[in-house]
Amino acid sequence: MFKAPYPPYDPTDKNCFSYETVYKRWPIILTGIIDHLHRLNHDCAMEMQQDIADDKRAELDVRVQASKDIIGTISKLKYQMARDHKLELIPSDNEPFVELYNTELAELSQSNKDTWFTAPWLYAECYLYRLLRSWFTTSPSMFWQSFDPFFGQKMDTLKSSGDAIYQLATTLHEVSEEKDTLESDPDKLGVLFKEMVQMCLWGNATDLSLLTNPSHADIQDLQSVGRDAQEKRKDFILRDDQDTVWAHLKTLKGGRVDFALDNAGYELFTDFVFADFLVTYTPYVSRVVFHPKLIPWFVSDVTPPDFRALIESLSDPSFFPPSNRETAEQSKAHVEAMVSRWKRYIDEGKFALSVPADTPLGPRGVTEGDVVKKGGFWTQPYAYWDMKERATELWEELAKESGLVIFKGDLHYRKLTGDVRWPAFTPWETAIGPLAGSFPILSLRTSKADVVAGVNGEVADKLDQEQGNKWRVNGKYALISFCPAKKQT
Ligand code: F6P
Ligand code: MG
Repeated sequence: MFKAPYPPYDPTDKNCFSYETVYKRWPIILTGIIDHLHRLNHDCAMEMQQDIADDKRAELDVRVQASKDIIGTISKLKYQMARDHKLELIPSDNEPFVELYNTELAELSQSNKDTWFTAPWLYAECYLYRLLRSWFTTSPSMFWQSFDPFFGQKMDTLKSSGDAIYQLATTLHEVSEEKDTLESDPDKLGVLFKEMVQMCLWGNATDLSLLTNPSHADIQDLQSVGRDAQEKRKDFILRDDQDTVWAHLKTLKGGRVDFALDNAGYELFTDFVFADFLVTYTPYVSRVVFHPKLIPWFVSDVTPPDFRALIESLSDPSFFPPSNRETAEQSKAHVEAMVSRWKRYIDEGKFALSVPADTPLGPRGVTEGDVVKKGGFWTQPYAYWDMKERATELWEELAKESGLVIFKGDLHYRKLTGDVRWPAFTPWETAIGPLAGSFPILSLRTSKADVVAGVNGEVADKLDQEQGNKWRVNGKYALISFCPAKKQT
């Protein structure tokens, strides 16, 4: 397995983002789950006061009791985290990777790096979400077994994204009116491609694990779209491989593009818009495959139910709260046209999830092996350097079938680079280790963690001097990093 020449960021270093995460952000996220469960218990209590059938009452009773147990376990975890206790083994829960996580943990304990503040941040954070999953999936109440504690939050943010969504739907409509010119003017298509890349890139700024308590105004601000907003953000793109990606895409003919998805809601919407552009307006792409996470992950990541929920929400004219924009009615029609096209693409297989569309949370019960092989890798705690060995089937499929794999977001970036202390000037191809050359890779990331590679060393030094690590973690800066496939000999 690949060994990087640099260590991970030291989680005990108070100047690193990992320290702040363990100390501040995770407790807030865990408290959020506890509050959410309390609210749901309250709703159950109200329902139980009604005249309901006995079996329903019994089910609610089990549900409430089980949720009290989960609340107790999460509270204990918060306590242990704050006191830097050891990470405990993940209980056997019939879902994948328990052994894999526990073996890794045993290795960390050999080097005394198995407590909350000493374990490598990437491992500890993946472990946290896998551990949470095990408590829900082993619950005696069926209700909690398929429960996503972040689903409500994801839907609320989507609801708050109506303005940007309507605006982008209108943009797509305007693009459709120019279809003929686009076909005859490749330069224009190239300009539009860049606008789409940037829209999709900045869609990654709305991340609920970073914005632990976003207000409606925060969300609107982050989602300001259109040329002016893009122009303002241009200087914040510290690496920009858009021209090379475009040159590469133009070599494809009806090819396949894969999205290793990041966040649900607005970001997923921007992924769809980008995918729609590629399939509808370019001759280069005819099919897009979207790769979700199979369990609730880093708060806002897309699961198969989130994927379905986006299409359902966009199809429901009453989903977004009314807005006072004059063009609301017209935009509504644009959203309608857009979502019916997307549904058609899904029916025709032009847009597909990498796992069956109806995959429930946790791949239990569905052709398990296959679902795990196609989608499990993303929720393992590993860097992507050794994807070929660790997820051979997925790697082979991408290497054989995909014309471009787009990795969205910060966590994918951390895993692509192994989350280690690469000097910022390290070539991107070096930082992604042996994965480089496997298939064409495009990472679209707004920066929310310390690791950075492939940027101009002087620029990075200057930012480090002026801002400490702020520029690396506050989501204001972004990187568009491309690495082509190795030529077959
Ligand atoms: O909490 C750690 C972290 O990985 C940060 O790096 C980032 O803020 C977030 O979680 C995930 O970001 P994204 O949704 O862009 O992958
Ligand atoms: Mg995410």
